[in-house]
Amino acid sequence: MLSLYFFIGLWCLARSDTQEACPAFTKLSFHSALLGTDLHVKLFLYTRKNMTCPEVINSTALGDLDVTKRTTFIVHGYRPMGSVPGWLGDLVKSLLSVEDMNVIVVDWNRGATTVVYHHASSKTRNVAQILTKFIDQILAEGASLEDIYIIGVSLGAHIAGFVGKMFDGELGRITGLDPAGPLFNGKPPKDRLDSGDAQFVDIIHSDTDALGYKEPLGNIDFYPNGGMDQPGCPKSIFGGLKSYLKCDHQRAVFLYLASLRENCNITTYPCGSYWDYRNGMCINCGPELKEPCPLMGYYADQWKVYLGRKDTPTTTAFFDTAAKRPYCLYHYFVDIISWNKDVRRGFITIKLKDKAGITTESKIDHQPIAFQKYHEVNLLARFDRDLDEVAAISLIFSTGRLIGSKHMLRILQMKLRSIDHPNRPPLCRYDFILTESRETTFQPIPCRNVQM
Ligand SMILES: *[C@@H]1O[C@H](CO)[C@@H](O)[C@H](O)[C@H]1NC(C)=O
Ligand SMILES: *[C@@H]1O[C@H](CO)[C@@H](O)[C@H](O)[C@H]1NC(C)=O
Ligand SMILES: *[C@@H]1O[C@H](CO)[C@@H](O)[C@H](O)[C@H]1NC(C)=O
Repeated sequence: MLSLYFFIGLWCLARSDTQEACPAFTKLSFHSALLGTDLHVKLFLYTRKNMTCPEVINSTALGDLDVTKRTTFIVHGYRPMGSVPGWLGDLVKSLLSVEDMNVIVVDWNRGATTVVYHHASSKTRNVAQILTKFIDQILAEGASLEDIYIIGVSLGAHIAGFVGKMFDGELGRITGLDPAGPLFNGKPPKDRLDSGDAQFVDIIHSDTDALGYKEPLGNIDFYPNGGMDQPGCPKSIFGGLKSYLKCDHQRAVFLYLASLRENCNITTYPCGSYWDYRNGMCINCGPELKEPCPLMGYYADQWKVYLGRKDTPTTTAFFDTAAKRPYCLYHYFVDIISWNKDVRRGFITIKLKDKAGITTESKIDHQPIAFQKYHEVNLLARFDRDLDEVAAISLIFSTGRLIGSKHMLRILQMKLRSIDHPNRPPLCRYDFILTESRETTFQPIPCRNVQM
């Protein structure tokens, strides 16, 4: 009996210990998801004072919140399993490491956790009301609307939109990370996130064919890898059910996170369609055009100044990524002028090598290109490494034919120019022959100023 009391005593001690430690995001189980949960919103404030341990705040107790600084809210989405979002801690730390601000995690796990998606989505307006009341309070304490930034993930993106509407679009910024599609697709602007909901609304669409919203909704809408299927995510259910369901959808969060913590920025290309981007038709951020290409993620708002000049309120921007961190790819334009008598159709693979022997390869998987005498073709090549000084270039011309004699492709001029570093001098090579399916390697030379 005594030992039982002893153990209960220990248990109480252990319990009070955990209560002393950091307040934590609500952790629920699948059991709660089956029963469904009533809405309960908690706000956790993180500052640079303590990046791992938050304060629980509310509209009457603002804690260490500094109204003179930017306040960033992170609003999660639907939680079908009740778990804590795995990326939350990283996002908080990364935001605080780039800027001294207030980061508020909006925990509405009680409400978001249910196996019935529409029960969660029906609570989004209530969450927005609670946040609006809180923001009213910090405004009364001296914060400015301009400094309020909401990052909303999935359903959280629409919550951000509903909050933004209550402030007539005067909030500083909203970022929607793959805004939820189901029950929101096709809805009018008043019933979803919209470009009018803040001074600047940027969106990353990573799963437009399943859980994400299909159409553009922001001032600028980024479509990584076309917005549907993300590299490195399972293509079928056999890659693991959970991962199959959410990998594409979550990629938007990981790309945003990459914009804060990787040492490469993801440059994007405003374009009418992904197809046009892939075919090199939208690289309009070269040295001759003064407007820089927009960056995806945290720094996207630097592009805000160019929005005013746009005829259309929405810009769609495309880019490809690698399958894993740091996700960046480096873009080059490859201009080729051939002089074969007959038209040759095929594909070009390019390898680059620097002095240290580091190589990177680009398979340009566009439509087969027609090489015609004296016609210049412009290809967009993407490499996963950025080589400062290219010492050797290898080209392979392939046609996909399995039989027949090997075709030759006679090249008058090949020019390689970095799009991400327009100041680097372009590299050229003149008058050489490519034999089908055989690798041809050469040293690039500075380009001459030839006019065709
Ligand atoms: C953050 O707060 C926790 C709990 O109060 C404390 O244990 C930890 O040392 C703090 N960290 C910093 C860097 O102050
Ligand atoms: C706000 O937080 C304070 C301190 O944690 C608490 O005493 C108070 O009851 C809370 N108010 C509301 C309205 O929840
Ligand atoms: C990314 O872009 C931002 C904003 O222009 C800049 O401050 C930062 O240094 C860049 N990071 C890298 C690694 O180039």
